[in-house]
Amino acid sequence: MMKWLLLVHVLGASVWVGGHLILLFTVVPRARKQQSIRPIMEFEESFSPLGLTSLALQVISGVWMALHYVSFSDWFDFSYSHQYYLWIKLSLLAATVAIAIRTKFSLLKQPTDQDLPAVVFHIALVTMLAVGFVVTGISFRYPF
Ligand code: HEM
Repeated sequence: MMKWLLLVHVLGASVWVGGHLILLFTVVPRARKQQSIRPIMEFEESFSPLGLTSLALQVISGVWMALHYVSFSDWFDFSYSHQYYLWIKLSLLAATVAIAIRTKFSLLKQPTDQDLPAVVFHIALVTMLAVGFVVTGISFRYPF
């Protein structure tokens, strides 16, 4: 079962992290050059359905795998590293969801080109959190 969960998790990570790295390093430079928010809106429109599906799969497969490492009754007793990695993952998730909600329901509600700097800042934040998920995820098997 762990193998299948890990397969789903790594595929989901490829979509979420890969999508945000492409957004930050190829779409954002184009938007800034054009001083237009349009390239980002077009990317968001096509990426969001797959991106949000992969995020949901990350949570389901991630928590399921985490229970393999840390039984629920031990989640609040920080006696070994896996419990720290688990709470780092949950904190990264809370921050990602908070920023995603703010971006989607306020910044991108009726975006103008003036919102470009704020939108780019939020994209950079979510991308850093995404990379944080990967580093923390690898730590479960190869503690830093
Ligand atoms: C967008 C969100 C996430 C991304 C991009 C992500 C990414 C990753 C990656 C790349 C790995 C390493 C896989 C490997 O070692 O081959 C991993 C492992 C892991 N992740 Fe996540 N993760 C995310 C969310 C979560 C969440 C929310 C949890 C649970 C609270 C979680 C729990 C785990 C666990 C337990 C492992 C260790 C699996 C193992 O190696 O046995 N992940 N994650």
